Amino acid sequence: MNYLAPSILSADFAALGEAVTLVEAAGAPFIHVDVMDGHFVPNITIGAPVAKSLRKHIKGVMDVHLMIENPDQYLQDFKDAGADIVTVHYEASRHIHRTLQTIRSLGMKSGLSLNPGTPVEVIECLLDEIDMVLIMSVNLGFGGQSFIPYALEKVKAVKELAKKHNKELLIQVDGGVGLHNVKEVVEAGANVVVAGSAVFGAEDVTKAVQEFIALMNE
Ligand code: DX5
Ligand code: ZN
Repeated sequence: MNYLAPSILSADFAALGEAVTLVEAAGAPFIHVDVMDGHFVPNITIGAPVAKSLRKHIKGVMDVHLMIENPDQYLQDFKDAGADIVTVHYEASRHIHRTLQTIRSLGMKSGLSLNPGTPVEVIECLLDEIDMVLIMSVNLGFGGQSFIPYALEKVKAVKELAKKHNKELLIQVDGGVGLHNVKEVVEAGANVVVAGSAVFGAEDVTKAVQEFIALMNE
């Protein structure tokens, strides 16, 4: 089973509850919440209070992608907000092993994200602490960018590691995924696909979600 995670970054921020309800009704099992601080990435979005309000509207998995410096300082807040998965960036934590352990000790699934310039090898010594690897296929900060093709090689490498070490590992891809390339992304080994502009920018959001899910699970 492969899971679609619509990113609310491309939704109307004044109507996030409705956006979530719409994509969940269309069958999306994860809701991807992009948290940006204006320091680690050149954009600012939302924090734990908005995530907490949103939780009341999310029936499925709340998948929080932290693009912030010093993520450790906010893990408890996102636990309190009701996050199911919290993903942190390898590049943003000085003691990433401990950060991942803390996420799990709070009772959430731990995700580790790699920027396009970070090699896959760095996850090997962290695999015991990770429930999900997120391969970024754009540089962080904005929706609607083009997919970086090399990300597919990285996904394949993570898939190989997963076969050896953790068959349950979730492998997520985020950035530049649309109906035109989602099949390729899944075939490379991704089982969770983030899509922002391709879902919320579509003329018919429901139809876009359904088409994604159908292509991902053919
Ligand atoms: C980018 C964010 C993504 C973004 C993807 O920094 O992490 O989740 O919403 O948007 P699209 O799917 O439009 O590339
Ligand atoms: Zn994201």
